[in-house]
Amino acid sequence: MSSTSSFNAEEHQKMLRSYFNGNGFNRWASIYGNEKLSTVRTTVREGHAVMMDRAYEWLQRLNLPDDSAVLDAGCGTGLFSIRLAENGYRVKAVDIAAQMVNKSREEAIAKGVQDRIDFEVNTIESVKGIHDAVVCFDVLIHYPAEGFIDAFKNLSGLTRGPVIFTYAPYNRILALQHWIGGFFPKKERRTTIQMITDENMNKAMEEAGMVIKNREKISFGFYHTMLMHAERK
Ligand SMILES: C[S@@+](CC[C@H](N)C(=O)[O-])C[C@H]1O[C@@H](n2cnc3c(N)ncnc32)[C@H](O)[C@@H]1O
Repeated sequence: MSSTSSFNAEEHQKMLRSYFNGNGFNRWASIYGNEKLSTVRTTVREGHAVMMDRAYEWLQRLNLPDDSAVLDAGCGTGLFSIRLAENGYRVKAVDIAAQMVNKSREEAIAKGVQDRIDFEVNTIESVKGIHDAVVCFDVLIHYPAEGFIDAFKNLSGLTRGPVIFTYAPYNRILALQHWIGGFFPKKERRTTIQMITDENMNKAMEEAGMVIKNREKISFGFYHTMLMHAERK
């Protein structure tokens, strides 16, 4: 991190942990669940499902060996972890918020795949281990460039294979307004969506020793994200 930066990783994590264990948990758990939602949030749920389908397709195309181990960094309520486990992958599901990890575990038990998932309350900056692939969806969108670069570097070091992740590219002004306005309660507005410039994305790749193999913009109603596949150089 640059010495002139005002970004404080610990403070940022504290804020995210508190948000995703509180209001954020309720908001996101309902978006990722089955209950009836407003039209706006329904499009977010649907867009997120489109993104996950595409990410799963990309992962499948890589033909990783049977029983491969995947780290789901920032697993939320476990949607992708459970899908992976149901399809024969071994999964490490990590989230900064204990509430999210508990919910993932409950859902995995309900689906009978808990034995294939190792749950851990931890951050994307501190989690350890080597996996065949790392996935990280709609987590780095909460990171400004300095934090993004460090977190991405750590994630890249956790696999010899792909990192499949999403982020918010810099020019998505409208999407940003929708996100901020629609999903964060006024008192939690510090948890805004953080846009990353191409320059900072290149820097993150360079510092992590990774290259971009594939990218796809996913835009569906009020859900906008960039899905990325990066590999070691
Ligand atoms: C918008 S949700 C996405 C959840 C899941 N990846 C999905 O797409 O269904 C963001 C998740 O990232 C988690 N998170 C945020 N910052 C994190 C960090 N530094 N380390 C680990 N998890 C984090 C939150 O607790 C939350 O569960």
